[in-house]
Amino acid sequence: MSEVDAETAPGREIWIEKYRPQTLDEIKGQDDIVERLGSYIDQRDLPHLLFSGRAGIGKTTAATAIAREVYGDDWRGNFLELNASDQRGIDVVRDRIKNFARSSFGGFDYRIIFLDEADSLTSDAQSALRRTMEQFSDNTRFILSCNYSSKIIDPIQSRCAVFRFSPLSDDAIAAQVDEIAAAEGIEVTDDGREALVYAAGGDMRRAINSLQAAATTGEVVDEEAVYMITSTARPEEIESMVTDAIAGDFSKARATLDTLLTDTGMAGGDIIDQLHRSVWEFDLSERDAVRLMERIGEVDYRITEGANEQVQLEALLASLAMND
Ligand SMILES: Nc1ncnc2c1ncn2[C@@H]1O[C@H](COP(=O)(O)OP(=O)(O)OP(=O)(O)O)[C@@H](O)[C@H]1O
Ligand SMILES: [Mg+2]
Repeated sequence: MSEVDAETAPGREIWIEKYRPQTLDEIKGQDDIVERLGSYIDQRDLPHLLFSGRAGIGKTTAATAIAREVYGDDWRGNFLELNASDQRGIDVVRDRIKNFARSSFGGFDYRIIFLDEADSLTSDAQSALRRTMEQFSDNTRFILSCNYSSKIIDPIQSRCAVFRFSPLSDDAIAAQVDEIAAAEGIEVTDDGREALVYAAGGDMRRAINSLQAAATTGEVVDEEAVYMITSTARPEEIESMVTDAIAGDFSKARATLDTLLTDTGMAGGDIIDQLHRSVWEFDLSERDAVRLMERIGEVDYRITEGANEQVQLEALLASLAMND
């Protein structure tokens, strides 16, 4: 079982680590979660926790912030971070957990074991984990992190307080972008900030990485820089592609698609995601929106199954253009 070092080597200034919130209060958005977690810490009574939600929204950050708040500077000695997707399997996890739970304590009632990607464990492995959780429950608290809580077996869910992390709001992302830009002394234009928020789609890690990448390419982080760095289509491009197709101008829609795939370098799946996010923001009739939505579902599935992306997206535009 590998021990994942949450922080990168000092000196390598990766902003997602440099600006990772150290305390619960510094976490942007997730207000209800921060408040509930804070009250466990105030009452000095931490149950097992299960964090679920998409990538880059603060699950690992919340776990390390809890450890810092409970243990202060000693947190690293009392916090074990393991990744459940480690190929060596659940036996190795159990050995690591046993050794950690048995080693001597520095005056605290319990230690914290953070198990990332818990949903990658098979249900047999989860049953074994559940027994381990019970075996060490008097001096160990588990924080499990996963993308899909539905993949965690009920007996584990019922032993944990479950926290569902949501994608971060535009405001939360904009606030963090501004804070980092100010600390780094870089200029982010209003349209640049808007583009960062749009391209992030609720993922703070993506927003910060894009900001850092865009900041190394020029003096000012504007819309241009962000769309180039993130291989994201401008919302207007996606919209005109769709409205051209619906108006029957297939060639024009197809040309836009070509530009997105070749010049912007987008993957077909990313175009589908962007389409999906924007369907209800386009000025479409209900019928067209429904038609588009139905086709997005189909193409998404086919692309996931390995179909040719360009063929599938052109077929989507063609079916909009036919307007049957
Ligand atoms: N709510 C937040 N407030 C401020 N920064 C955040 C927040 N969420 C994420 N970040 C930033 O994004 C980085 C990645 O977040 P984190 O490691 O917590 O993601 P995660 O939810 O554990 O994702 P994954 O499922 O990929 O493990 C952090 O280092 C931090 O810089
Ligand atoms: Mg994580």
